[in-house]
Amino acid sequence: MKIIMLGAPGAGKGTQAKMIAERYQIPHVSTGDIFRANIKNGTELGKQAKEYMDKGLLVPDELTVKILLDRVAQPDCKNGYVLDGFPRTIPQAEVLDEALTKLNESIDYAVNVEVPDENIVKRMSGRRACLKCGATYHIEHIPPKQEGICDTCGSELVLRDDDKPETVQNRLKVYHEQTQPLIDFYTGKGVLKTVDGTQPMEKVFEDITSILG
Ligand code: AP5
Ligand code: MG
Repeated sequence: MKIIMLGAPGAGKGTQAKMIAERYQIPHVSTGDIFRANIKNGTELGKQAKEYMDKGLLVPDELTVKILLDRVAQPDCKNGYVLDGFPRTIPQAEVLDEALTKLNESIDYAVNVEVPDENIVKRMSGRRACLKCGATYHIEHIPPKQEGICDTCGSELVLRDDDKPETVQNRLKVYHEQTQPLIDFYTGKGVLKTVDGTQPMEKVFEDITSILG
C-alpha cells in the first residue's frame, strides 16, 4: 500500500504516519526527518537544506526529489510506504507520478489531515522532537514518560529550530501557496481522503484505518 500524508505543518502527519507504518508494516518516509538527520550529521545536503528550513521555506525541488526517489527505490519499500512531507509542490507530485507510472504503480491513498491554522501555532510551540529516531511528543497532549527524554531511544528531546512562532507563520503561508494545490491534484486522481485532525490522535488514527481497511 502506498500512502501520502497531506496537511499543514503541525497537522499531525508525522504522528499518524508513524502509527500507520507500524500497523501496516511499511516504512515511514519523511523528507523532513531525512533533512534533519543530514543537518545533525553535518552533511553538505544538511547545510543546504538548513538555510531554507530555518526560514520556513521549502527546500528546492532539485535537492528533494532525488533523495525521495532514491529512498523509495530501497528494497524495504517494495510492498509500499507512507510518505510524510512529500510531495509538497505540484512539480514534486508530477515527478513521483511519472516515476510510479514507469513501474506500473500508483498511489493508493492521499490522506489529508485537516487542522485550521489557529490550532497549528499552539501545537508547534508545545512540540518536542527526537532528532535521533524522529519521534515527536507534545508537552501537554502527548508527553514523554520522562520529561525531555525520548521514550523510544532515550535521546534528548528538543524544540525544532523551525517551530518558533514567526517561522511557523511562514511555513503556513508556504503551505497554503505551494502545498494546498495538491489537494485538488489528488482529488483529481480519485485517491484523496480527508480526516478531521483536530480530534485526539487515537480518534484520527481510527478514522484513517477505517479508510485504509
Ligand atoms: P516537515 O518535517 O515535513 O515539517 P512540516 O510539514 O512543517 O510538518 P511537521 O513535521 O511540522 O508537522 P506534522 O504534520 O508532521 O505534525 P506532528 O505529527 O509532528 O518539514 C520541515 C521542513 O523541511 C519544511 O518546512 C521544508 O523546509 C523542508 N521539507 C521537507 N519536505 C520537503 C519537501 N518535500 N519539499 C521541500 N521542502 C521540504 O504533530 C505536531 C504536534 O502536534 C506534535 O507535538 C504532536 O505531538 C501534536 N499532535 C499530533 N496530533 C495531535 C492531535 N490529534 N491532537 C493534539 N496534538 C497532536
Ligand atoms: Mg512531521
